[in-house]
Amino acid sequence: MRALTVAPGIAHSGRLEDVADPPRSDGTVLVRTLALGVCGTDREIVAGRYGWAPPGERRLVIGHESLGTVQEAPADGGVKAGDLVVGIVRRPDPVPCPACAVGEWDMCRNGRYTERGIKERHGYGAEYFRIEHDFVIKVDPSLGIAGVLIEPTSVVAKAWDHAERIGHRSRSWQPKTLLVTGAGPVGLLAVLMGAQRGLEVHVLDHNESLTKRRLISALGAIYHAEGLENLTGFKPDILMECTGAPGVVRDVLGHTAPGGIVCLVGVTAPGHDFDLDIGLLNRTMVLDNDTVFGTVNANRSHYEMAGEALQRADKAWLNRLITRREPAAQWTKALERQPDDIKVIVDFS
Ligand code: BGC
Repeated sequence: MRALTVAPGIAHSGRLEDVADPPRSDGTVLVRTLALGVCGTDREIVAGRYGWAPPGERRLVIGHESLGTVQEAPADGGVKAGDLVVGIVRRPDPVPCPACAVGEWDMCRNGRYTERGIKERHGYGAEYFRIEHDFVIKVDPSLGIAGVLIEPTSVVAKAWDHAERIGHRSRSWQPKTLLVTGAGPVGLLAVLMGAQRGLEVHVLDHNESLTKRRLISALGAIYHAEGLENLTGFKPDILMECTGAPGVVRDVLGHTAPGGIVCLVGVTAPGHDFDLDIGLLNRTMVLDNDTVFGTVNANRSHYEMAGEALQRADKAWLNRLITRREPAAQWTKALERQPDDIKVIVDFS
């Protein structure tokens, strides 16, 4: 079968090649791939800056934002042939740590987790993949191709889950405003889930984009194509930082209302020093009971939250997030940024 592979650590080593059929050791559920979403992590892997092949191998089948149709499954596996499904990305560490032991692999404590298409496990970027029945998520057929958004939405769902748990440390917590920095796919999905919670939502993005402006206003949210310094006086109750841009991360710290919550979702490369008045930041955060937290990955409950959020969303709006499809034969093109791209998918159908 054809698969999208890379040699982790080596830039631009991506190719489409014939590989062996998925081994049964990957799981009893056989899935035919329909589409694969690509994200910043895939770009990092293809650039040779992230990613690990399985032990003893040099190449990794890339792809962690999956969507496919079940071809075969055990009778008691919870899914059956014909079902639309996505695969969970992370697998618990082998120890397991206390978090992985209770199914919270997204909170792994020893870093020995593995991730399909990212860390030491082949991904979903192949014509077929196999998966364990308890790492499959059934997708409502009405979502269609938008089901490929479940994985990125699961990451956002975890961010919401944790932000709300933190908020409820105070019995009086009633957030009203949300600021999302970055209107990429993760930012837009954070906006969607904020709007579903009835919040007044503002979105900051450094580029003016009519497509994004329309998507954001369709949710009743407000788009600002400018820097945080221009939003003087606006201090949101919740701030979701989805750019991973070091300058934006610095600017969002201490920028919330008292009791505010800053959630860092975007991953940053090391090596960016900034001047920061830590004394002022600390005083603000202490006196205002502010929180800053980071979040990554998702466990099964977050995939379920994601499925529900997408189910409640306007399907036409979701489909508009998928702005480009590239055939598998040209998959590396999917990783080249083009103006107005939001979610680009590799089409296996
Ligand atoms: C994926 C996560 C993963 C993270 C770090 C993200 O792109 O969506 O599932 O945990 O990369 O590898």
